[in-house]
Amino acid sequence: MENIRLSESGSSVIILDQSLLPAEEKYIELKTPEEMHEAIEKLRVRGAPAIGIFAAYAMAALAHQMLKYKPISGCCSASGTSDDVFMQEMSVKGDYLKASRPTAVNPAWAVDRVLHAARVEMYKARQADPNRMNVNAGVARLAEAVRREAFAIQEEDKAMCRAIAEHGLNEVIQLGGKKRKEEYKEDYQESDSIGILTHCNAGPLATSEYGTALGPVLLGAEEGVKFRVFADETRPLLQGARLTAYELQKAGVDVTLICDNMASSVMKRGWVQAVFVGCDRIAANGDTANKIGTSGVAILAKHYGIPFYVLGPSSTIDPACATGADIPIEERDGDEIREKFYAKPVAPEGIKCFNPAFDVTEHELITAIITEKGVFRPPYSF
Ligand code: MRU
Repeated sequence: MENIRLSESGSSVIILDQSLLPAEEKYIELKTPEEMHEAIEKLRVRGAPAIGIFAAYAMAALAHQMLKYKPISGCCSASGTSDDVFMQEMSVKGDYLKASRPTAVNPAWAVDRVLHAARVEMYKARQADPNRMNVNAGVARLAEAVRREAFAIQEEDKAMCRAIAEHGLNEVIQLGGKKRKEEYKEDYQESDSIGILTHCNAGPLATSEYGTALGPVLLGAEEGVKFRVFADETRPLLQGARLTAYELQKAGVDVTLICDNMASSVMKRGWVQAVFVGCDRIAANGDTANKIGTSGVAILAKHYGIPFYVLGPSSTIDPACATGADIPIEERDGDEIREKFYAKPVAPEGIKCFNPAFDVTEHELITAIITEKGVFRPPYSF
């Protein structure tokens, strides 16, 4: 299912509104910086890689709109806008998009990458002028550089997800001594399936194509490797119930929905051979921020001796954060706990709430971090 794309005209972004799933599959078009910012903030588009891809396309759409931009004191280029004005305007819009959600590194990474692509074009034009003066690449060329880079980001994400899925699938097959399709005997047993527990949603909706944490499962389904997935519902915004359960059921994977506080019971029964989770930001020492509740799952996995894997593209690694303590954690409105998804509020009116959207899993609890580059084991040093 296509979750994010640039519109035909190139001046807006079209997304599948994830906040309405699974009840409604509705596409919405976003044109203004405010609408784009709101779409990330309200989780209409969500998942670290997806908000990076979205931010890149949002920048491409906003750059395209600048073809019609009339600056107060324009000069030089065909549209009347100088390269410097373009770059200034676009970095202000980029900063605004980056501020929509603080924890995932991907939007900032994507915005900086498309701006860099435009800057390179600008310098190329200047280099071509022997006097290095007053030469503009022009808005059309800069906007095209942003657009090209945005497409490249999405294409790379597809390839990265596929590679992560391959590495994750090989890892888990080796772990359990399980087999690929061609090795199965006729008499396939339930016990041949690999039990996976996952938290939140790190599937195709949160990325492109395979997803990260769900990648090995979806690739395994194609290759005849049997998985049995336990999806934590993931309070308070229920990404597990609404999105992971929906994606896996659609793909024909055996999926069982559980409440977050049931993970221990499921592990104790021996139903889970590995935990797969995604990530929003990985610090240089391997500490990983992911959806609130992930660190609790990691602690349980350690208790029961179950391997705990973090899967994500290498763009999620942020060497600027030495440890998890440097990762900013988003706090959201308490109404998400008090009343969202209930017919009427469930908690006493005015009750105080603490609603962090993410937590940090210490690297000691992580068996391996799987990126498109391979399987990294401790000690981590990125
Ligand atoms: O608040 P969300 O739904 O954006 O949180 C998403 C997660 O925590 C995912 O696990 C993470 O972004 C990885 S998505 C491949």
